[in-house]
Amino acid sequence: MRLQGQVALITGASQGLGLEVAKLYAENGAKLVIAARRETLLNPAADELRRHTDVVALPLDVSKEAERLVEAGTERFGRIDILVNNASALGPSPMPLLEEYPWDELDRVLRVNVLAPLHLMQLVLPGMKQRREGVIINVTSDAGLEAYPGWGGYGTSKAAFEHLSRIFAAELEGSGIRMYVVDPGDMNTEMHRMAEPGEDLSGLPGPDVPAPAFVWLVEKATEAFARVSAMEIIDRLRS
Ligand SMILES: NC(=O)c1ccc[n+]([C@@H]2O[C@H](COP(=O)([O-])OP(=O)(O)OC[C@H]3O[C@@H](n4cnc5c(N)ncnc54)[C@H](OP(=O)(O)O)[C@@H]3O)[C@@H](O)[C@H]2O)c1
Repeated sequence: MRLQGQVALITGASQGLGLEVAKLYAENGAKLVIAARRETLLNPAADELRRHTDVVALPLDVSKEAERLVEAGTERFGRIDILVNNASALGPSPMPLLEEYPWDELDRVLRVNVLAPLHLMQLVLPGMKQRREGVIINVTSDAGLEAYPGWGGYGTSKAAFEHLSRIFAAELEGSGIRMYVVDPGDMNTEMHRMAEPGEDLSGLPGPDVPAPAFVWLVEKATEAFARVSAMEIIDRLRS
């Protein structure tokens, strides 16, 4: 699939990894549907992206208004070809142990990181199935595999997100839709700064480093389902 002319919905595209992926998709000719809660960050990001492509940008919480986002995108562009579930909640900073995890915060982390992307997939899949084509990219973390103390809320949500993606992919076998679970690796972003307050993260790569892997997954990957490391893809592209 070439990005040129495709419609990509990217959540959390006002900053960090989501914005870097959105920039590359825009530069490659995709039309964009993007969302994040803070208008102060979303509006300038959308303006920058509009220099390259058509953009629908909605300031909303994906755990509350998934339908509105998909409706706005399909109303404007007629379809969604690519869904990048990137927006994510870390939970409280500093991160509490599971034993002490505030219940309402855990509820919110699971709604944003598991239920919202599941809902978005449910909303875009009928159109993709009809066209027998589509790409869904779900952004995960090594915290979904490794048992890091203190990362229990976020890590549990990413583990659940990964597993529901696997089951979804099994249910979609033969549909023509491809699904990828992608670990971008450590990046110097707001989320990582909240996860490790006070730490010097200047040595970490910026989110622009793994972003080209998201172009590769749409344009070059062929597997119907895979869990991949963005940095392994980048290393392969560099060598
Ligand atoms: N940074 C790392 O080291 C790292 C490592 C592994 C995996 N990841 C994953 O990579 C992805 C991107 O993370 P990042 O580091 O780029 O984060 P980031 O810089 O903090 O950006 C997060 C984006 O998501 C938006 N967002 C958060 N909650 C939202 C909600 N409920 N509804 C709509 N938008 C929401 C944010 O905008 P608003 O806050 O204004 O809504 C922002 O645009 C996440 O899935 C994360 O789990 C990151």
